[in-house]
Amino acid sequence: MEELADQFVFGKANVFGSASFYDFLQPENQGKKVYICNGSACLTAGTQPALREELLKKYKPEEIGEMCCFGKCYEAKGYLEMEENSSSPPRRTGGQAGIRDEGLGISKVQILTNEFTTIKEYYKLWEKVLKTSKEELLNELKVSGLRGRGGAGFPIATKLEGCLHAKGDIKFIVCNADEGDPGAFSDRYLLEERIHSVLLGMMIAGFITGASWGVVYIRGEYPRSIEICKNAIEELKQQQLIGENILGSGFNYQFKVITAQGAYICGEETALLSSIEGQRPEVRVRPPYPVQKGLFNKPTVVNNVETLACIPFIIEKGGAAFAKLGKGRSTGTKLVSLDSHFNKPGLYEVEMGTPLSTLVNEMAGGFRVPVKAMHIGGPLGGLVPVSKINDLTIDFESFAANGFLLGHASVVCIPEDFPLIKYLSHLFKFTAHESCGKCFPCRIGSTRGYEMLEKAQNEGYKIDPVLFNDLLETLEIGSLCALGGGLPLPVKNALQYFNQELSTYFKNA
Ligand SMILES: Cc1cc2nc3c(=O)[nH]c(=O)nc-3n(C[C@H](O)[C@H](O)[C@H](O)COP(=O)(O)O)c2cc1C
Ligand code: SF4
Repeated sequence: MEELADQFVFGKANVFGSASFYDFLQPENQGKKVYICNGSACLTAGTQPALREELLKKYKPEEIGEMCCFGKCYEAKGYLEMEENSSSPPRRTGGQAGIRDEGLGISKVQILTNEFTTIKEYYKLWEKVLKTSKEELLNELKVSGLRGRGGAGFPIATKLEGCLHAKGDIKFIVCNADEGDPGAFSDRYLLEERIHSVLLGMMIAGFITGASWGVVYIRGEYPRSIEICKNAIEELKQQQLIGENILGSGFNYQFKVITAQGAYICGEETALLSSIEGQRPEVRVRPPYPVQKGLFNKPTVVNNVETLACIPFIIEKGGAAFAKLGKGRSTGTKLVSLDSHFNKPGLYEVEMGTPLSTLVNEMAGGFRVPVKAMHIGGPLGGLVPVSKINDLTIDFESFAANGFLLGHASVVCIPEDFPLIKYLSHLFKFTAHESCGKCFPCRIGSTRGYEMLEKAQNEGYKIDPVLFNDLLETLEIGSLCALGGGLPLPVKNALQYFNQELSTYFKNA
């Protein structure tokens, strides 16, 4: 750290502030040889205590650490083994490598899960793009109605247009591959099985905006994704599909892959940019937005893996072909990650607007065990009681209208016999661990909430509902970003739909 401080004239405190932020770099994680997943899907599956016993046959207790989600929620029992020297990047995840794809192909609509052909065949589209006008390409994206798949649902064409018109000697396309939501593994699927849709999507976005750099920010918990991405970029270089004056077009484009070091908040786009810059990844105040002042203060488009992976289809088949699919303002398809509680867990590509009941009961074959709720859209998504399955369709509007959030469309089930108070406590603990610390409703409030829920479970403490509601309200309206601001949603859903189960932990019940 001292060497880095000297080299970058950054100051020792700044280097320490950045390095100490990340899970992989924490002093208590030095010397760890394996990490057990403590994410939501493995927690509710109840697989981790037995997994720990199993790993203790091979590792000493002090060599075993914990980390959140390796994208293996479809089978639970998630863990990550490190190389001998634990400060090196992680090498392999436990269990099966890659994504179990039994769920694939069931859906009639395939945009993202279509069979990959060959580089030669696939990149014919790139040759065409380089001969097309930016305006024409942008127009196809406008017509497609493609909205961001990373959670907020913002139209991609608006971002690209903003960046195209922003002034800057250098511009960036950043792919947000930090997929931190426990329960989600759709980005991992795309990175490992359909990497060229992601890379070509970034290249087309670069061509439209005039950005000459594509930066792929991939979480360190996905070592295989990083390796596959780097190899694919190497292949593109060899085929001269990236680099200087690509295919004589005058357009330059190159990639940089960043291995993230373990911090959920780095999925938030401004924290992600600070992380790439080597700063402590705290969330930035917006405006200015990244398209105006992003990476190194240059115009930057940040998009989710899945959003970018939709671009080649839209440009090849036309925006209208994409817009024809879906429902209302939610066009196209959505990848949905189902956890191990389903009879057929795995990844599904469904047309937007597909009834949730079709996915759960027909495609996934129903639940393997009795389930009372599904946590959909990550830790900040809504807690959907099973009684609402018939009311929802898989699209942004239906979830919002029913008081939930589609988010990244990951589904973590809460079995009948799993105490909800324990699940809520897990959500507060997760937020407390992942809070960037910039604003105190989130930094302090998440810890106070966790303490209350733990005392209620273990010490017979009765939570004052007024105090608890004050805490939720402060988090909701006083937090700078959606980590602190979004935590109250699943908690409120739980209080609304499972009042009877939770009331014993509250005063005046
Ligand atoms: C706490 C937090 C975590 C987030 N994590 C991710 C993430 O892992 N991946 C992602 O694409 N977007 C994530 N986002 C959303 C990003 O800030 C941003 O909206 C997104 O990358 C934009 O891409 P899109 O328009 O393609 O969705 C997160 C947001 C918040 C507030
Ligand atoms: S809400 Fe939490 S994560 Fe977001 S800026 Fe505030 S402290 Fe950071």
